[in-house]
Amino acid sequence: MNVFLTGATGYIGSYIAHGLWKTGAERLTLLVRAKSREEAARRLWGSMQLHMPFEEFHEFLNTRTDILRGDLTDRDFGAPAEDVKAAARRITSVIHCAASLNRKSNKACFNVNLRGTLEVLKLARAAADHHGLRRFSDISTVAVAGERQNECVSEDNTIDWNRSDYDPYARTKKFCEHMVHELLPDSPITIFRPATVLGDSRFPETTQFDMVRAFVFLASLPVLPFDENWRMDIVPADYVGRAIVTIHQQDKPAHGAYNLSAGEGSPAYRQIMDRMIEAGFERRPRFIPSSLPLFRRTVEGLSSSPRAWGVAPMASLLKVFLPYLSYNTVFDNQRVSRELGGSPRPFQDYAYPLFRFAREGGFKYPYKPWPEGVREFGGR
Ligand SMILES: NC(=O)c1ccc[n+]([C@@H]2O[C@H](COP(=O)([O-])OP(=O)(O)OC[C@H]3O[C@@H](n4cnc5c(N)ncnc54)[C@H](OP(=O)(O)O)[C@@H]3O)[C@@H](O)[C@H]2O)c1
Repeated sequence: MNVFLTGATGYIGSYIAHGLWKTGAERLTLLVRAKSREEAARRLWGSMQLHMPFEEFHEFLNTRTDILRGDLTDRDFGAPAEDVKAAARRITSVIHCAASLNRKSNKACFNVNLRGTLEVLKLARAAADHHGLRRFSDISTVAVAGERQNECVSEDNTIDWNRSDYDPYARTKKFCEHMVHELLPDSPITIFRPATVLGDSRFPETTQFDMVRAFVFLASLPVLPFDENWRMDIVPADYVGRAIVTIHQQDKPAHGAYNLSAGEGSPAYRQIMDRMIEAGFERRPRFIPSSLPLFRRTVEGLSSSPRAWGVAPMASLLKVFLPYLSYNTVFDNQRVSRELGGSPRPFQDYAYPLFRFAREGGFKYPYKPWPEGVREFGGR
């Protein structure tokens, strides 16, 4: 088995690569943006050190990994034709995880998500034509469900082409799912739709801070423009990674699509704050949902304020996340819970350690450098 995986230098992709290395897949072919194989190795060490010590990573890199250097936005990844051909001949399945999550940019989402997925599909098609493809797994998102309010959305009623989307990210990811089905009609396909992925339920460290920043900022406000009973569907990255790795490797998964979510077990904002306070958080915010329109206008205004004021980045972040924070919608997780024998650990159980790690570390992961004197490939 040789799994072609995109996005291994990113947050969720690192969980998938780690899970595949640890459990089954004989080899991985990783698409990595880099100028050289050495740079690719070092970039992978950046994302993988959350999961394993250097020695173990180096061993996996050298014994179980092929690297295809390339960019999703270039035709055939901008890689030499013989490298792409060789990859098509050896890969037996595909997990496409790379994407642009830049909700503000039509251009980034169009290029990375749409053109990029098309390039991955071309490679998958070539492998399918050459020797058959065991599975194509597309890491999508629950955001493809479009605008919602007060719902529990199941996999079968997620895609509704008559519904508006919140942003270009959601719109392009929805079309990616469509492309996968249209262009690989004869291959087994699994669509995974994670909810908001925030931290790891086993340890406080994370390498991804976008949503964590918004969480820390909101938790520190004296007033929140939400109803305390609204729920937020948050799922830890370890559960998401385990679900993708487990289901991707099955011969015949029971379903074609899986929400990777907390579903009906999602906590209300009040529950999250109660547990944060129990764990040591200093202050309980007041929940005033009637302030939401004013909050939205303020955030919109500040998102285009002069750079020197220093508030535009946080306001822009809140502006893009606000629809997802206020739609009080969760995503049914019975399918994945059955496959994994349980639901994800609830966010309130590990929210405070994540909060402290992010705030005390200045929203930075303490990256370890590549050890001196160790060659990227081959022995010491
Ligand atoms: N995080 C969430 O809350 C969440 C929720 C639902 C669904 N998802 C889905 O999960 C997947 C992974 O998300 P993530 O949070 O792990 O994102 P991430 O940390 O930003 O990682 C994105 C990955 O995509 C790669 N990538 C981006 N543009 C590329 C390009 N032009 N060519 C090649 N590779 C490119 C990045 O490579 P570089 O390192 O080179 O930039 C990185 O490896 C995405 O499909 C996303 O839609 C995420």
